[in-house]
Amino acid sequence: MSRIVYVNGEYLPEEEAKVSIFDRGFLMADGVYEVTSVLGGKLIDFEGHAKRLERSLTELDMTAPVTSEELLEIHRELVKRNAVDEGMIYLQITRGAPGDRDFVFPDPETTTGTVVLFTQSKPGLADNPVAKKGISVISIEDIRWGRRDIKTVQLLYPSMGKMMAKKAGADDAWMVEDGMVTEGTSNNAYIVKGGKIVTRNLGNEILHGITRAAVLRFAREAQMQVEERAFTLEEAKQADEAFITSASTFVMPVVKIDEATIGTGTPGPIATRLREVYLEESLKAAI
Ligand code: PDD
Repeated sequence: MSRIVYVNGEYLPEEEAKVSIFDRGFLMADGVYEVTSVLGGKLIDFEGHAKRLERSLTELDMTAPVTSEELLEIHRELVKRNAVDEGMIYLQITRGAPGDRDFVFPDPETTTGTVVLFTQSKPGLADNPVAKKGISVISIEDIRWGRRDIKTVQLLYPSMGKMMAKKAGADDAWMVEDGMVTEGTSNNAYIVKGGKIVTRNLGNEILHGITRAAVLRFAREAQMQVEERAFTLEEAKQADEAFITSASTFVMPVVKIDEATIGTGTPGPIATRLREVYLEESLKAAI
């Protein structure tokens, strides 16, 4: 069955949704995006995603063609029209289609941004069996640009990273810069040593994950120790536990990094507990 998607004010069957070939998202990766998860037909952390979207747009001098209130309405309408129980909503805003190719930004008075949203139904997302055995990651060099805090649609290198992982028989890749782990291809990276959770501090080097913020809050509320700092790949390989977070994986244990088995090679107690708490608390706050 075809999905109903949203494009610039219209709800359309996916086959009928069109964007111009001159769209700057298509020609220049001049766009930003958000992925919000849906559990029990409700949105997880919508406000966090809306705020980060606003920040991404501001950092790129892009004018938002829709308000946060309108976006909430569109998210809800898409969940309803596509009867999504568990899954994600993808949202993308580009600088629009000025009618030709030009490096110079178009005048926002005459070129309005393109807004696209669609649903991805993933039944069983919360109860993902992979979380019970954990995933394996390889390490790759982080050669992305210097503003990884802006959630742009420039995803070629992360996509190449996933392919490198796949080729190596692993599930994902952790990116490393100057010996320090930055993040996963589409998730934030964590290790646990001696009961302490360590994850990269916020800066331009990583995306400020919305799941990360919630998980660290829940961890602190549960009196767990948290340290926000850069950690080396070597440190990660010697850790008791490792895990990732994102809107599509929530908290996912990592049991292997390159050739190193992490802990016992099975999901550790802290990652397992954090996944439970995250799902429990997020469901309660879902809108
Ligand atoms: N990715 N780091 C990167 C590079 C990401 O692409 C993502 C999200 C995250 C986690 O952010 P959040 O917790 O807000 O989802 C960290 C989304 C899920 C994606 O591209 O599909």
